[in-house]
Amino acid sequence: MRKNIVAGNWKMNNDLSETLSLISEIKQIQNTSGAECMVAPTFINLQSAFETAKGSNIEVVAQNMHFAQNGAYTGEISASMLKSVGVRTVILGHSERREYFHEDDALLKQKVDFALENNMRVIFCFGEKWEDRSADNHFNVVESQIKNALFHLSAESWNSIVLAYEPVWAIGTGQTASPEQAQDMHAFIRGLVEKQYDSSISEDVSILYGGSVKPNNAQEIFGKNDVDGGLIGGAALNAESFMAIVNAF
Ligand code: PGA
Repeated sequence: MRKNIVAGNWKMNNDLSETLSLISEIKQIQNTSGAECMVAPTFINLQSAFETAKGSNIEVVAQNMHFAQNGAYTGEISASMLKSVGVRTVILGHSERREYFHEDDALLKQKVDFALENNMRVIFCFGEKWEDRSADNHFNVVESQIKNALFHLSAESWNSIVLAYEPVWAIGTGQTASPEQAQDMHAFIRGLVEKQYDSSISEDVSILYGGSVKPNNAQEIFGKNDVDGGLIGGAALNAESFMAIVNAF
């Protein structure tokens, strides 16, 4: 059975005290939907965030990770480092990593493999740019992003994969994909996974939508058959709006 998941990607926001206050505020609001609830603070605050979230059903996850366990990689963070502070899930392939830090499919494939070897769960992000959609090339772009980074994986590995469709033109712009556009893409993605593996895997994988999800549009988007939750940026920086989205199922 696939799970409903709402993950807050805080990006490069919130210092230590802001991180701890936001988690404390989120903890005080009841999760009435039963959706899995995750927050992704910046690396430096993960350990304190993990301690503050203890005893709640909020999972603290990382926004990125390196592809090696240790060594001469100045400024990078490894899976074992994340695990040593309690983190078990990592977001990989966010469009901001692809755009500003030049992460391509080959690098992301390495990172996915490394996360899985370390028994971590991966929220794998992908999505087309506006120029792709306006050229009617969005399905091809998404297909190649998924194929190149994930379709070498074994069937068992898919237990640890969550997909996140994030059209780049909808991220931080206030412009969301319509619920129908999200549904069409999610159904297409589930079909790709079924074709490559089988329907038990495609039916079990959670596919999140990301891109300007807000309390006022979450219910309609999450109401679509193949949308199993959201990856939330801006609206995750406020406890009330984040929990309104968690409770939108
Ligand atoms: P947004 O960001 O909700 O601010 O559009 C989504 C994301 O980048 O995951």
